[in-house]
Amino acid sequence: MKTSNNTILITGGSAGIGFAIAKAFLKKGNRVIITGRDAQRLEKAASALPGVTTLVSDVSSEADVDKLTETIRTRFPQLNVLVNNAGYAAYHKLEPGVETWKAAADEMHTNYISVIRLTEKLLPILQQQPSAAVVNVSSIAAYAPGLHIPTYSASKAALHSYSKILRLALKDTGIQVFELMPPLVNTDFSAAIGGASGIAPEVVAQDLLSSMEQQVFSIHTGNTAKIYEALKVSPIAAMNALNGIPA
Ligand SMILES: NC(=O)c1ccc[n+]([C@@H]2O[C@H](COP(=O)([O-])OP(=O)(O)OC[C@H]3O[C@@H](n4cnc5c(N)ncnc54)[C@H](OP(=O)(O)O)[C@@H]3O)[C@@H](O)[C@H]2O)c1
Repeated sequence: MKTSNNTILITGGSAGIGFAIAKAFLKKGNRVIITGRDAQRLEKAASALPGVTTLVSDVSSEADVDKLTETIRTRFPQLNVLVNNAGYAAYHKLEPGVETWKAAADEMHTNYISVIRLTEKLLPILQQQPSAAVVNVSSIAAYAPGLHIPTYSASKAALHSYSKILRLALKDTGIQVFELMPPLVNTDFSAAIGGASGIAPEVVAQDLLSSMEQQVFSIHTGNTAKIYEALKVSPIAAMNALNGIPA
């Protein structure tokens, strides 16, 4: 997949990994549209991303997604890359009284249901392009769940499964499906779980672009590659490694 001269929609592009991906694609001569819920945050991001288009849109809102789809259809009918990046985690351990299920519904909705809804709505536009791509940002947690991110891990495992089956379903079309699986990355999102020791979002963005060019569809950035190798030996070993438990 070429990484220049595309029209790219990135959900959650006002900060973190989405912002770094937007910056990297803009540098390579793409038209880039970013979304987010907070207009001021988007404005601030736009001042650091010359040429970007910003759209206020919440992936978890069906009305917002319908409006976004219509905006893309009318203003950006040449859209050929969708990056499903927006997501979040509710941090907690599974302990009596935590009532995990209360947070779980929203988490699954944003990280999984919202991705499959936006993708399905935009597929007719992507299908019209000679070359197109869907990029789903899942996580190392899709391979090995984290102790403090139980439902988040499950939502990313669901997204991992969906990404594989979407790739198979679209194999005879011009749409390629990439799954970006970052390890711990230093962003606002991860501050509560020691994200400062994670890799820079720019490293993740560069890995995405080079993987797209090289047709690497499951993108095991940084430490994810090690966890993936551990998984082949033992799922327990992989989970322990992710959670810092000695072998
Ligand atoms: N950071 C990590 O360690 C890490 C590791 C693996 C995978 N990931 C994944 O990478 C993706 C990006 O994470 P990040 O670390 O860059 O997060 P971040 O720094 O918190 O940035 C999240 C971005 O998404 C937007 N956003 C959040 N909820 C949204 C919604 N419902 N609709 C539209 N936009 C929304 C935020 O803007 P607003 O708040 O204004 O909406 C912001 O622009 C997520 O899917 C995350 O699961 C992160």
